[in-house]
Amino acid sequence: MARVVVTSPLSIDVRPLLAGHEVSGGSVRLDRAALLAAVADADGLICLLSDRIDAELLDRAPRLRVVANHAVGVDNVDLAACAARGVAVANTPDVLTEATADLAFALLLAVGRRLVEGDALVRSGGWSGWAPDQLLGADLAGRTLGIIGMGRIGQAVARRAAGFDLRIVYTHPRPVAAPGSHVALEHLLAESDFVSIHCPLTAATRGLIGARELAAMKPTAILVNTARGPIVDEAALASVLAAGGLGGAGLDVFAEEPRVPEALRASPRVVILPHIGSATLGTRARMATLCAEAVREVLAGRRPANLVTRP
Ligand code: DGY
Repeated sequence: MARVVVTSPLSIDVRPLLAGHEVSGGSVRLDRAALLAAVADADGLICLLSDRIDAELLDRAPRLRVVANHAVGVDNVDLAACAARGVAVANTPDVLTEATADLAFALLLAVGRRLVEGDALVRSGGWSGWAPDQLLGADLAGRTLGIIGMGRIGQAVARRAAGFDLRIVYTHPRPVAAPGSHVALEHLLAESDFVSIHCPLTAATRGLIGARELAAMKPTAILVNTARGPIVDEAALASVLAAGGLGGAGLDVFAEEPRVPEALRASPRVVILPHIGSATLGTRARMATLCAEAVREVLAGRRPANLVTRP
């Protein structure tokens, strides 16, 4: 009987979807040592974006045929090492597009309209009543939203932006059939009142938004990152914010999760969330289902649609 390891509790029980397989794990979060031990006789693996799937792990898993990553981003998986060993890799595209776009937009609004500061003011008992100059935030209508990475999630953010009368500029490897102007990054940074990041983390996008790029943004601009932390240089962001060089930032992702630099946590201009872009009941259930189905299909010799690599 094929063996499947699940590295963490998921939002639903995937065992019924894997009937006929021996499923282990799934009740506690496996740390690295436990994961390396668990894969020794595994045929399939369902893992999280915080599990590093690298050559060391693959060498410990001689029977492994499929890795299903419970995320759309696969930057935690060494795709070349998997391909070299004939291990298929699946992810969870499409099902988290709308939830992640919702969260990016929620962050844009939360920072732009200073929701967290307002909430804190009221809870502190310090609110003394309506005032014409209190917690003034950013206007949206007629302003420009720059979308870095106009894939599925970027396009879903653009659809939401249309309802707020935002003009769209975007970067992407090629123009896409969606409203907005395809521009160079320098142009996007200079023009945008809001910048939202939706590209994958790759060698080319690591550190994409550093000190030079932040300095090129409008001093009132708001940066939103729901993609991957290492795309933004966090130290540079913290120092630009401290110097008043940016309007604010909405961050759902960080370079070394769960560590969040103190300078960002201390900044009143930053709204910080614990990587919850896809965290809705329906989305997380669909992500877990896609993972279990991918494992089942590959182990049965079939090819699921959500393969990132096939052996
Ligand atoms: C993903 O799928 O890459 C997300 O970051 C998970 O929420």
